Amino acid sequence: MLHNAGITAKRDLMSDDEPSISEEDEMTVNFIAPVELTSHLLGVLSQRGPDGAFVCFVTSGLALTPKRASPIYLVSKAALRSYTKLLRALLKATRPSVKVMEALPPAVATEMTAGLDKGDNMMSPEASAKSIVQGIDAGKLDNYIEKTYWFRWIDCPGNWRIHDNRQALND
Ligand SMILES: NC(=O)c1ccc[n+]([C@@H]2O[C@H](COP(=O)([O-])OP(=O)(O)OC[C@H]3O[C@@H](n4cnc5c(N)ncnc54)[C@H](OP(=O)(O)O)[C@@H]3O)[C@@H](O)[C@H]2O)c1
Repeated sequence: MLHNAGITAKRDLMSDDEPSISEEDEMTVNFIAPVELTSHLLGVLSQRGPDGAFVCFVTSGLALTPKRASPIYLVSKAALRSYTKLLRALLKATRPSVKVMEALPPAVATEMTAGLDKGDNMMSPEASAKSIVQGIDAGKLDNYIEKTYWFRWIDCPGNWRIHDNRQALND
């Protein structure tokens, strides 16, 4: 089971402007829906036979690093990342035939990022999808794709102060 659906909206937490997508919808699609779908389908997944089954959550490099323009999105992805780790530990002990994986793509040129001026810095959707599938085939539990590998060093409390000064927070 691959959880890929996601939505995002630019929002300014300091302003009263209403973005096109509500905070509730953003949290529901990105976090609540994959959690509930997984709960409902765990029984089926754990009876998949000798080859077992997998659940893979597509989070984002933004689960690891702050971005001012996408506050609810990154919170929803960080929540999904925490849930992934918790579920992985629980199932390892109770239903080891179900592997719990996470794929963390960098910026990818899809409808979601249309209009963002990132030059040639975005990955193609084909390359991102290929990396996600290859990670699943290889049984990779934490599939950091391209530069998100380095974001792990930001995901460390001591580094937030350094990151606060970076332009990325203002994007
Ligand atoms: N693009 C990036 O830079 C980037 C980076 C890191 C992670 N991601 C993650 O990668 C995943 C795919 O994003 P994308 O870039 O391919 O975005 P996208 O082009 O906007 O596609 C979003 C996908 O989510 C589905 N979806 C949205 N709302 C849904 C709902 N309520 N119910 C069911 N399906 C729904 C859409 O289905 P329909 O087409 O049927 O509407 C579409 O297939 C997301 O989880 C996103 O957060 C994206």
